[in-house]
Amino acid sequence: MFSKLLVWFLLAIYAASKVDGGDFIYNGFRGANLSLDGSAEITTDGLLLLANSIQQKKGHAFHPIPLNFKPSQGKTQSFSTNFVFAIVPKYQEVRSYGTAFVISPSKEFPGSEVGEYMSIFNPKTIGNSSNHIAAIEFDTYRNPEFGDIDDNHVGIDINGLNSNSSAPAAYFSNMSGGFKNLSLISGELMHVWVEYNGLQNLLNVTLFPIHLPKPDLPLLSMRVDLSPIVLEDMYIGFASSTKTVPSSTYILGWSFKMNGQAQVLDPRHLPKLPRIGPKKKSKLLTIGLPVIVIFFTLTAISAIGLIVRSKIKFADVLEDWEREYGPHRFSYKSLFMATKGFRNKELLGVGGFGRVYRGILSASKMEVAVKRVSHESRQGMREFISEIVSLGRLRHRNLVRLLGYCRRKRELLLVYDFMPNGSLDKFLFNHPNSMLSWSRRFRIIKGIASGLLYLHEEWEQVVLHRDIKASNVLLDSEMNGRLGDFGLARLYDHGTDPQTTHMVGTLGYLAPEMTKTGKATTSTDVYAFGAFMLEVACGRRPIDPRSSADEGILVEWVWECLRRGRILAAADPKLGHDYEVEEMELVLKLGLLCSHPLSAARPSMRQVMQFLDRDAPLPELLSDGLGAAILAVGGYKGFDDLRLSYPSYLEQGFANTSSVQESVLTGGR
Ligand SMILES: *[C@@H]1O[C@H](CO)[C@@H](O)[C@H](O)[C@H]1NC(C)=O
Ligand SMILES: *[C@@H]1O[C@H](CO)[C@@H](O)[C@H](O)[C@H]1NC(C)=O
Repeated sequence: MFSKLLVWFLLAIYAASKVDGGDFIYNGFRGANLSLDGSAEITTDGLLLLANSIQQKKGHAFHPIPLNFKPSQGKTQSFSTNFVFAIVPKYQEVRSYGTAFVISPSKEFPGSEVGEYMSIFNPKTIGNSSNHIAAIEFDTYRNPEFGDIDDNHVGIDINGLNSNSSAPAAYFSNMSGGFKNLSLISGELMHVWVEYNGLQNLLNVTLFPIHLPKPDLPLLSMRVDLSPIVLEDMYIGFASSTKTVPSSTYILGWSFKMNGQAQVLDPRHLPKLPRIGPKKKSKLLTIGLPVIVIFFTLTAISAIGLIVRSKIKFADVLEDWEREYGPHRFSYKSLFMATKGFRNKELLGVGGFGRVYRGILSASKMEVAVKRVSHESRQGMREFISEIVSLGRLRHRNLVRLLGYCRRKRELLLVYDFMPNGSLDKFLFNHPNSMLSWSRRFRIIKGIASGLLYLHEEWEQVVLHRDIKASNVLLDSEMNGRLGDFGLARLYDHGTDPQTTHMVGTLGYLAPEMTKTGKATTSTDVYAFGAFMLEVACGRRPIDPRSSADEGILVEWVWECLRRGRILAAADPKLGHDYEVEEMELVLKLGLLCSHPLSAARPSMRQVMQFLDRDAPLPELLSDGLGAAILAVGGYKGFDDLRLSYPSYLEQGFANTSSVQESVLTGGR
């Protein structure tokens, strides 16, 4: 029982020593169990640093337990090892000492000296056969006393440093079939194989650059029986030393196998060398870098410049009180982009309030019309903006939708739905070839009437348009008339001193009482609408300076036609006879009624709609006067109002009707 246990125990020890000592591989030494002393250390990168730049230092790194090189008959058995190292000099081409792979009965070298003694020997021990040390040296210093061939050689050393076999560092090139020199202190990674064949008593040392496969021929091949030198239990490891000249020796990987081929180190799995010493200055760095830096600096400066410029360029004015109008606000930049920088090519027209540009909003791809209105004063702007925004809530198919606004210094931008067919004005007067048929015109008149009715009576508050005219009527894609620019005239009211209120509107559309009071009312809107109706029906502008004196003022001329009993003579001659007589008569007479010099005589927009829809009969206009109309429409205002609103314009223009007016005034209720 006991003997069985002992056998198991011995077998376990044997297995352990075999696994532990006979075969290992380190791809980098992070966490490796090595016996280190002196300057030897394992860096955080997993490099084994044998000797660092500090002067006068020994460095040893050994496998911690001895290996059994002679398991039978006192004969050293075969072994194989390969490792990757680099000697990185602190100063280029300044030589230090070297490093060595060592097989030794001890892993400590208490009496060893640095420098040429490789931290293995000292002057007393060197050459003593009782040392039992075999080493492969990578010597970077020529010591004539040891018979060194040069300052860059590989040697096989037995018990001392007088190499038994040595050669300048080189590798056999399988390609060229010859040896190529290597520099041990180049800092380049060197791959080394040390292989001992115990049957042939052959020790081979092969050195080659890491990026190449193992050469077919070794650098050193020495017939030697290591049996007298190598004892049963031997330590293996590395020794290195520096003296006065600093350099660093790194081992990156190491594998060993007793009685077989060691595992081949894979350069891809090895840690990286740290960058040491001055970097080679490339052209890229010396010339390229400054150029790149200058380029980027200039780019950055110009980018900042552009940003600042665009900030200024696109600056819009946003005050706190405006924040509540958020959704209605457009940024100047977005409008600038939409109109391609307010290019002349995008200019749709120039109106009384400013230029109108076509634009496409980049976010929604929506086509819009952007009106740039200049304003000098900030006074009343807040009130106006809130009005604009509230107008933005107006929805009627005969109104051009106001989408929002943008405010800048001295400028207000209003964003409207885009009307592809432009203004009615152009169709009436500027397009001789694309004549509007009567049915179209009638439909447009009705549409505008319903839009104006919506403004006057159907929305939550009374909105005055203040500037109804053909050029403010826009045509959508289906040629429906839409009233634009509503409320805009208010800007001029707000923008100026209330003491010097000036009249807003367009000559020919201005109700006579406006010249006196300057005050817009629904009735003044109706007056302008009347002028508009006549304009559309007659194909003439309300005031045409080119016409003869009697025909110069449209309203007067239509009255004249009515008085002569030939009202249809006022119809647009371009229409020929292509119109509904009844509708034409209705429009002309209603136009006269709306543009009545007496505000009290004018119908409301609701009444206008009823007349146009023929839900109510149009009161018969007396050919010579106004009274009947007033009586028929009737019941607006007291007598005094009529007297007050009695227009001076009437006296001049309708001198021959003054008696009628008188009778109306006296005969009125
Ligand atoms: C060699 O080393 C041994 C043991 O340290 C010592 O006894 C011996 O005297 C040395 N031989 C010479 C020639 O120094
Ligand atoms: C290689 O090194 C040896 C010895 O250092 C030298 O004689 C030889 O010229 C070198 N060959 C080349 C190609 O540098």
